[in-house]
This record gives sequence, C-alpha cells and structure tokens, in this order.
Amino acid sequence: MNRFGERFTMTTFGESHGKAIGCVLDGVPAGLAIDETFIQSELDRRKPGQNEFATARKEEDKVEILSGVFEGLSTGTPITLVIYNTDQKSGDYTNVKDIFRPGHADFTYFHKYGLRDYRGGGRSSARETAARVAGGAVAKLMLRSLGIEFASGISAIHGIVAQNLDFNYPKNSPIYALDPSVEEAQKAAILEAKNAHDSVGGVATLKISGLPMGLGQGLYYKLDAVLAEAMMGINAVKAVEIGEGIHSAELRASQNNDPITPHGFKSNHAGGILGGMSNGDDVILRVHFKPTPSIFIDQESTNTHNESVSVSLKGRHDPCVAVRGSVVAESMAALVIADMILLNMGSTMSGIKGYYL
Ligand SMILES: Cc1cc2nc3c(=O)[nH]c(=O)nc-3n(C[C@H](O)[C@H](O)[C@H](O)COP(=O)(O)O)c2cc1C
Repeated sequence: MNRFGERFTMTTFGESHGKAIGCVLDGVPAGLAIDETFIQSELDRRKPGQNEFATARKEEDKVEILSGVFEGLSTGTPITLVIYNTDQKSGDYTNVKDIFRPGHADFTYFHKYGLRDYRGGGRSSARETAARVAGGAVAKLMLRSLGIEFASGISAIHGIVAQNLDFNYPKNSPIYALDPSVEEAQKAAILEAKNAHDSVGGVATLKISGLPMGLGQGLYYKLDAVLAEAMMGINAVKAVEIGEGIHSAELRASQNNDPITPHGFKSNHAGGILGGMSNGDDVILRVHFKPTPSIFIDQESTNTHNESVSVSLKGRHDPCVAVRGSVVAESMAALVIADMILLNMGSTMSGIKGYYL
C-alpha cells in the first residue's frame, strides 16, 4: 500500500538510508507546465539542516525528473521524481539495530515483517515525506492554474497557541510560525526541550483557498474524510481537525452553523466542507503532531529477544517534527484536491457533455 489517490495517484518508493527516495505520479493531465524550480523550492521548505529548530542532517534533497515530462510539459505518462540520499550516517543506528526505539515504528515493523531496515528507520522514516512534497508540488502546479492555493504554518508548539493567524508570516520565520506574537515563546519551547535532550509536539494549520463548490463525494469519498486520512497518514500525526473541529462538540448549533447569505457564508465554522463536499469557502485544517520519538534521554525498551534494555539514542533528530511537517501536510492536501478535481469531472451530465460535445 504505497499508492495514494484514485485518479491523480502517487506511489512513493525508497528508504531513509537506501540509494534514493522518490515517487511516481500517474494521472497527471498532459500539457501541464512542470516547473522544476517550483518543485525544488517546495522541497527546500521541508529540507533538514537549515537551522537549530530542525535536525542537523544535511540532505540536499535535489529533485530529478526521470520520466513523463517533455520540453517542460507533462506528457500524460507517469512522472517519476527521484531524490538521491546523500547524508546517511547508518553507523548512528548500529546500537539500536536489535532494539525498539520507544515511540517509533521499529516494534511494529519487526513484529509484522520479522525483519526491518534499522538504518534511519528504513521506510518508516519521515525521509519518505520528501517524496510526498515533490509529488504534492506537481499537484499544486495543476491546481494553481485553476486558482487553488495552499498556505500553512505552525499554530501551536507544546501548548503555546497562536492567537491570530497570518499566512504570509511563516516564510519569515525559522519555525514557520503563523503568529509573530507567540513565535519567540514557541522557539524557546523547542530549544528548551532540545537542550534537555527531549522533544515537543506541535500543530500545523493549513488553508486551502480558491476551491470550487462540490469537490468530494457525498458518502464514501468525502472531502473531509479523505483529507483526514491523508493527514493521519503523515508520520507522527495523531489528530486532525476541520473548521471548528473538536470545539464544535462544545457549541450550540446557533453558534456553530454558518449563516448563508446571497453573497456567501457569514462565518466558516464548517471549515469549507458541508456534507463531504467543498462549499466554496476556505478549507481550514489543524494537524496535530506528537513529539519526535527519538530523544537522547535513557528510555526503557526491549530488544528482538524480548529482553529489557535501556535505549540511549545517537544521531540527528528534529526537536519538533511539526515544523517541517507543515509543508508535508500542505503537499498531501494538494494531492487530495488534485484527485478530487479529476474525480468531480464525471459527476454531472452537463460536465461530461461540456467535455465531449
Ligand atoms: C517532517 C518529519 C520529520 C521527522 N523527523 C523525525 C526524526 O528526526 N526522528 C524521529 O525519531 N522521528 C521523526 N519523525 C517522526 C517519525 O517518522 C514517526 O514518529 C515514526 O515513523 C512513527 O510513526 P507514528 O508516530 O506515526 O506512529 C518525523 C516526522 C515528520 C513528519
């Protein structure tokens, strides 16, 4: 199950310390201008080693297009994007070769498959999310030509919550903060945890704007359900909220309903989705990331012989994965919307006639 999507599909491949990671995109319409500089700029937003708030690993994350593009345009055939791994230090992992890192996927991978690639977590490493960002960038190129845009940033770190969201601010912030008034406190929380050899969790907030009405299926491929699945499929994500989210359970309908006027909705508690379909308003998602599991404090665990051990980790890890995770969330959302756009084209007779007649 390495494939995502129904019509605009992405299959990712590769391991953290293998030769390369990447993705194959199928279903990309022919004639889309594939701007390689844009794909690279998206990868650069997720790239590690940029400042003290992220892992010190220095992966270049240089993307190469292997297929599906001719003279700058998509050809309608599978697009293969590859990123070669350049900064692996597999030796950092020899001491946990037979040990399960608490909070990581080692335990379940080993018990499911009977073996595991322990170098950097193999396929379970969030290195794989670079492939998703590359794939998501192509989806964004397609959607941008339809006026659909994505923005994201950090709204909370370790319980320090943004009061006002400014989606233009994250590009100026090393932690992609959405609210400059709490940015310093959020940075301090990350550094305090890092200095204590620990890590913290955080929340990324995502905005999708310019959506047409009616994206998403009424029952079994609802826009909210598929977005939630896409977000929950990102490493370390433990909860997703849409619009008012969990807070809606505390409200009365008179507070939660969005009044409808001839000029549109008066508020957006729904987060842009009603009945599983986009309502034309911005889609707002909050994606909750747990603290990075790999920390440098001694922890209790077991090994592959089910013996008790104390784990002391080495290596270079993100002190807060939400920071680099926000662009991953944006990329997965772009893949969902691109898929929904293609799926929606066959939903009415007038749509079909508009294409064929
Ligand atoms: C962008 C990003 C970077 C991550 N970096 C690390 C890391 O440096 N060290 C680590 O232990 N986990 C990291 N993770 C989280 C693990 O990949 C994840 O916790 C692990 O695969 C177990 O999956 P689960 O937390 O979803 O259960 C990162 C996650 C994301 C989204």
